Amino acid sequence: AHQWRGLIEEYRERLPIGDGDPVVTLGEGGTPLVAAPALSGRTGAEVYVKVEGANPTGSFKDRGMTMAMSKVAATDTKMVVCASTGNTSASAAAYAVRAGLGCAVVLPAGKIAAGKLAQAIVHGATLVAVDGNFDDCLRIVRELAETYPVALVNSVNPYRLQGQKTAAFEVVDALGDAPDIHVLPVGNAGNISAYWMGYNEYAGRTTAASVDDVATRLPAVATRTPQMWGVQAEGAAPFVKGAPVEHPETVATAIRIGNPASWAYAAAARDDSGGRIDAVSDAQILDAQALLAAEVGVFVEPASAASVAGLLQAAELGQVPAGARIVCTVTGNGLKDTATALGETRVEPRVIAPTLEAAVAALAL
Ligand code: F0G
Repeated sequence: AHQWRGLIEEYRERLPIGDGDPVVTLGEGGTPLVAAPALSGRTGAEVYVKVEGANPTGSFKDRGMTMAMSKVAATDTKMVVCASTGNTSASAAAYAVRAGLGCAVVLPAGKIAAGKLAQAIVHGATLVAVDGNFDDCLRIVRELAETYPVALVNSVNPYRLQGQKTAAFEVVDALGDAPDIHVLPVGNAGNISAYWMGYNEYAGRTTAASVDDVATRLPAVATRTPQMWGVQAEGAAPFVKGAPVEHPETVATAIRIGNPASWAYAAAARDDSGGRIDAVSDAQILDAQALLAAEVGVFVEPASAASVAGLLQAAELGQVPAGARIVCTVTGNGLKDTATALGETRVEPRVIAPTLEAAVAALAL
């Protein structure tokens, strides 16, 4: 039986990695593309979700981290650093363990979901909490990496996007061609840029974010590229506003970002694909999260649900083409932030005697 070997081995010829380079991997990628009839029914389209919470540390960040960490492992640098709203730090901490590197994570104080914080801690990262937001953290680690012998593994590291572009390859490999529309949440704007690069390279074209000529060197796999639809939280929507947001705020802490680093790449992805970037409210995000759990069977974290909330909003406005083939990336696992998912819900299972009769009675069977 075929065992998925991790995205570097699966897509080696389309990645900037040499034959002798070390490969730091936890078997990331190869995530499920799941048909979502509940969303198809609501939108009049053919909708799938790309379940990135199925990656080893529970988010899409692992795709970028296997590439970035492999590249650091090939150098003399002994420590990696990142700013994070939680998932990048969880992923960096785990991959640093595999690479035998130290890991420092710089986080906005009090704004990291408990599961993500636990991951960074159990993997032995050094944590620093900043009295500020993600944008402050990113500024600090960029300056740190310029002056000190630490490697930056945020998505401003070009190898991160190289790894993340493979998710677009997987979608095309699963569907036989690119979808009509690809929807995903936008925070620091690396992922939308990476997907756009991946779709283009598979169609034989490059983008500004491409780092080599794989697209023109290798045969095209896809005949076309999709429209890229980005979705931001309304309190952290610099693309919708057209300018950075100084005090970003949203329940979806993963995308609580006001000044995205990959601004230019993401704007190009939107414009060159004929796509859009919209905003949705926190209430819409939480509704979409609940709908994904209750009707699709996929438990995602709030930021991930932004993609689905954006699609449903467009459908309500009559802006989803009938029958279009649409993929929504759901970026992170719901287990990372159970507190937000449960909200005010206090479901206490009824305690019963350890007998069949008591169970039957309690379940009203
Ligand atoms: N969804 C989740 C679950 C995320 O963790 C992030 C970003 C995004 C969406 C947005 O992706 O930044 O590429 O536009 N999380 C980063 C972090 C910022 O530190 O974990 P993006």
